[in-house]
Amino acid sequence: MQNPTAAEQFDSHNPRFAADRFALMAQMRAESPVTLVPALGVYAVTRWQEVRDVLGDAEAFASSQAFSAGLHLAPEATAIYSLASPMFALNLINVDKPLHKRLRDPLMSAFHIKRIQSLAPTVIADVEELLDSIAAAGGQIDLLPALCRPLPLRTICRLMGLPLADAERLSGWSDALIAFQTPGLPVEVQIGAAQGLRDLENYIRDMIAQKTEAPDESLISALIRRRDAGENDLSDDELVADIGVVFFAGHETTVNTLANAFHTLLTERKQWQAVVSGNVDAENLTDELLRHATSVMGLYRRATKDTEIGGVPIPEGATVWVSYGAANRDPAKFDAPETLRCPREGARQHVTFGLGAHYCVGPLLARLQLREAVIRTAQRFPEMRLVPGAVVPEIPHHGLRAPITVPVLLK
Ligand code: HEM
Repeated sequence: MQNPTAAEQFDSHNPRFAADRFALMAQMRAESPVTLVPALGVYAVTRWQEVRDVLGDAEAFASSQAFSAGLHLAPEATAIYSLASPMFALNLINVDKPLHKRLRDPLMSAFHIKRIQSLAPTVIADVEELLDSIAAAGGQIDLLPALCRPLPLRTICRLMGLPLADAERLSGWSDALIAFQTPGLPVEVQIGAAQGLRDLENYIRDMIAQKTEAPDESLISALIRRRDAGENDLSDDELVADIGVVFFAGHETTVNTLANAFHTLLTERKQWQAVVSGNVDAENLTDELLRHATSVMGLYRRATKDTEIGGVPIPEGATVWVSYGAANRDPAKFDAPETLRCPREGARQHVTFGLGAHYCVGPLLARLQLREAVIRTAQRFPEMRLVPGAVVPEIPHHGLRAPITVPVLLK
């Protein structure tokens, strides 16, 4: 029997995938710009140039129904939260223009640079407070619950004006969107995830009602205020969907990026030492970490006509999986791409935040948190290291790189 190909092993339940997905992606990328992945039933795009070509052509490669293509749902789950519900049907990453523009424009105008800059002092204070708790606990720490998870959760709650006390509950509900994209989940788990999304939607509706009564300086209030002033005409469902997508996309991605970044930096000891000694350009370090520690490994597009990618024919209706993670390690673009290297010329050319119509809404906020968390941790705990011999397992998910734990010793 022939050995399975890289594409055949590209399945989050395959041990080779769990051991080194980047090696599989490197093989796929070297062989062809596009690879049909049997386990997913999608065409995977893995080279930097072709990833940009696909993301830049929203006419030929649409987003509508593309996110849904990655969902694996039992009817028992969709009976509780259907694909026609706002969190799916009106989700920014799952729609095209003109609906996409209608949903995105109000968000962008409320998401202005001053709002993000005003969060910087609280982000720094949150990092310091979490590091104080880590210092007080001492010894062996799991960085995921100690820093990587609470920081983005607090930040997103502050941005949106949600009580910090609700953060964990909200995050548990929104994890449902990840569960829904994981093939082979037991029906009971899917049902729990569907209930989570329904609860999240109800919670957001309550929040909208509260903030309509008692406005504050939050992003949610800004959206409502602008609607009342006639600057946007979002329906209640559309408002719910916009708030939901910012909550989900705004924290889960950053949690995983932080976890991957610490894992990588603590593995690449020389780079950690450089950060400790202050011998790095903070912006270049941030970009290099975003490139190397990519957390959103890939998302979907749907071919709207018979077309091609890098000379490979793609039939109309096919689902295309665009891999930001593979593109970020394309040797045709980045020299020695598997190595974390700071300084790295051209580090900013990563595609971690996507490109084109669906370009991420929150790069400034993500960069702020990553920079402050990494540099302040290195200053406070210069001797921090990964627990010797400890593995850093990831959830089995081809679209995400999400560590389950990052165990470290402070000294
Ligand atoms: C390191 C952290 C982050 C990563 C890796 C990341 C990654 C991405 C990517 C790859 C996309 C493009 C989706 C596509 O091509 O269909 C995206 C879209 C989006 N991101 Fe981020 N993101 C991060 C942080 C944030 C933050 C902090 C926010 C908000 C506070 C945010 C909000 C969004 C939203 C709302 C979209 C949908 C945009 C659209 O479809 O028009 N993200 N993000």
